[in-house]
Amino acid sequence: MLNYDKEADAYDTLRGGEPRAEAAARAVLGLIPDRPGRLLDAACGTGIVTRRIAAARPALRVTGADLAPGMAHRATARLPGAILLADSRRLPFADATFDAVTSIWLLHLLSDAAEVRAVVAECARVLRPGGVFVTTVDKAAAHDVGSDIDAVLAPRPRRPAQDAAEAVAAHAAEHGLQPAAGACFTGLGQGRSPRSTIGDLRRGWFTVLPPGDPRVEGFAERLAALPDQDRRRPDPRFRVRSFRKLAAA
Ligand SMILES: C[S@@+](CC[C@H](N)C(=O)[O-])C[C@H]1O[C@@H](n2cnc3c(N)ncnc32)[C@H](O)[C@@H]1O
Repeated sequence: MLNYDKEADAYDTLRGGEPRAEAAARAVLGLIPDRPGRLLDAACGTGIVTRRIAAARPALRVTGADLAPGMAHRATARLPGAILLADSRRLPFADATFDAVTSIWLLHLLSDAAEVRAVVAECARVLRPGGVFVTTVDKAAAHDVGSDIDAVLAPRPRRPAQDAAEAVAAHAAEHGLQPAAGACFTGLGQGRSPRSTIGDLRRGWFTVLPPGDPRVEGFAERLAALPDQDRRRPDPRFRVRSFRKLAAA
């Protein structure tokens, strides 16, 4: 996983900024019933999406939680008094505290299925019966838009996708969460150019190719030979899924 404390300053800019946050928040909001209650944004990061959820639903009391102090610090500036440092594998809340729990771009970062299961279990535990869990799925696959850059990157080593939709649905079912609905959002400003991809490779974005790995420069050389070095290829489309906690769970 990237070091999110180091990433915090550049995070918003490198992830499509406010246009991406608006698109993500709109997709998430479409999956959350519009009524008063409490919402937890697990792994809220800099709060760029959390803030929009809170602004759009004044009747919801929104709490954000993140593991990285640098990210949580920025979220606190956006939502004073609403952010805490917490590990989503061990949430510091009582059972059935929230009406909705969101987790945007967290599950794909986790190291194995046991961690994903732990996060989904915790999100389910802190949800009240009838509450809604919303999470992104299939994050890495969304970045493959069929471009010439994807063709160059195709032979790279990859981690198994921890946020694969079927696996997430299976973990959810184990914890009394029933599939409800889905949505997509465009990662505005996140389309890759050859030059931006070379930069990402060198700073460790592709986690199985850490900076200094001898294979990095081979991929960089092939990317540098592509035309239109600064032309961004199409933006990715990200998938979001919602699950409802069964009354008996
Ligand atoms: C890709 S960012 C997404 C942030 C935010 N949800 C967004 O959409 O902008 C992933 C975030 O997950 C946080 N994170 C990673 N593992 C975590 C864990 N076990 N518990 C809580 N947060 C975690 C990181 O610190 C980082 O802020």
